[in-house]
Amino acid sequence: MIDETPRGPGRSRLRTRLRRALTVGAVGILVSAGLVSMSGTANAASTLGAAAAEKGRYFGAAVANNRLGESDYVNTLNREFNSITAENEMKWESLQRTRGNFTFTEADRIANHARSRGMSLRGHTLVWHSQLPGWVDNINNANELRTVMRTHIETVMGRYRGQVHSWDVVNEAFQDGSSGARRNSVFQRVLGNGYIEESFRMARAADPNAKLCYNDYNTDGRNAKSDAVYNLVRDLKQRGVPIDCVGFQSHFNPQSPVPNDYQANLQRFADLGVEVQITELDIEGSGTAQANDYRRVIQACLNVSRCTGITVWGVTDKYSWRSGGTPLLFDGNYNKKPAYDAVLATLGGSSNGGGTGGGTGGGDGGGTASCTVTYTETDRWGDRFNGRVVVTAGSRPISSWSVNVTVRSPQRISSTWNGSPTWDSSGNVMTMRPNGNGNLAAGASTSFGFTVMANGTWTAPTIGACTAS
Ligand code: G3I
Repeated sequence: MIDETPRGPGRSRLRTRLRRALTVGAVGILVSAGLVSMSGTANAASTLGAAAAEKGRYFGAAVANNRLGESDYVNTLNREFNSITAENEMKWESLQRTRGNFTFTEADRIANHARSRGMSLRGHTLVWHSQLPGWVDNINNANELRTVMRTHIETVMGRYRGQVHSWDVVNEAFQDGSSGARRNSVFQRVLGNGYIEESFRMARAADPNAKLCYNDYNTDGRNAKSDAVYNLVRDLKQRGVPIDCVGFQSHFNPQSPVPNDYQANLQRFADLGVEVQITELDIEGSGTAQANDYRRVIQACLNVSRCTGITVWGVTDKYSWRSGGTPLLFDGNYNKKPAYDAVLATLGGSSNGGGTGGGTGGGDGGGTASCTVTYTETDRWGDRFNGRVVVTAGSRPISSWSVNVTVRSPQRISSTWNGSPTWDSSGNVMTMRPNGNGNLAAGASTSFGFTVMANGTWTAPTIGACTAS
């Protein structure tokens, strides 16, 4: 019997894991052994993405297409992160610089990189006053602007449907300062206050399964601007307008430090019934002070159960949009900074941690390649749960495997780790394969994990039979 009561992450984990363990195939003894070893500290996650995943969060980075040819950049990205945001390549001027002509080359390259590495993708951004081509800025007619917005949203979201877990539908719609007023963008001027609602409705129609976010900066603590965003989100929720999440960019420096009420501010938005995501985190500084600020931000997200993920705004200081402030987790030579260690430790990871099992070699024990799988729900929060599937080779070594994981709509898998997923057209069936080398010695095990957004349905996923080669 599965306990379906939502609960905090800390409550009798091991007992719950044991109760939720479900075996597919005749490997019951291995399941129990695996569970015991998984709960120990020896296997603490050793990368940001894996550690965050264990906490039911994604850990992403903004990525620039023109850096994907640099091996240190790519190696660091692939090793540490499990979500990607295109830093500029999915903005309006990048995708539709001239009316009706969409160019997806650079955005596709980033999306393909994410897909091929089993990383999820954040979409940034659809309706924004900046990096907007002049031809949009010059539209004066409301119906024409609506048509143009719909075409842009449908085309862009349609292209990445099933891959983008969350879209920044509207970005930076409010002015800075104490007025709490809307920014004077072409959207605001021509369509009035309703453009935000219209954008979200168009976005829901374009990709019903993507989370739809409002994203902004200087809204990280309670102030006039965040109050204005709060009132907007509350109003949208009350009227049933489809908004699922609020992004807090979290660009910090000495003039704009991490506010003392950062966590409380995240929580008040979460209490409106939306996810909160930290979308563009960077903190200027160095050494211990910077590390401590990062620790506070990460801990705040962990303390807010509806905070589902963190993205830092770049991989390395040297390519940061404000590189002089060295605001990221890796220095210009891709060395881990004290801030990196602080983030990893706050996420419960450890640089000395090991991975999960697996192995290579061993002779061919004869017979056909085979494998079995076991499923365990490892954690549950108020809105989502984590699953882990252990794949165990049969009596001979295998070089690859695949497993289908089926969730029940409206559940959605929001992130995965230690595997390379593909999806069927419904988005409900994920086929997981090895992330790189799929070799397993006879009887050896490896595992992959995923987070399921429950959306009110707590049924365990169906794990298909394991296929080996
Ligand atoms: O690609 C051109 C290049 O061809 C040209 O030679 C060069 C000359 O300046 O410009 C290049 O484009 C630059 C682009 O980044 C790509 O590097 C633009 O000038 C530059 O303005 C642009 O800056 C981006 C900025 O958004 C624009 O608003 C930053 O990279 C990007 O990090 C930043 O990201 C924003 C988020 O989207 C929203 N929140 C704030 C955040 C930081 O400003």
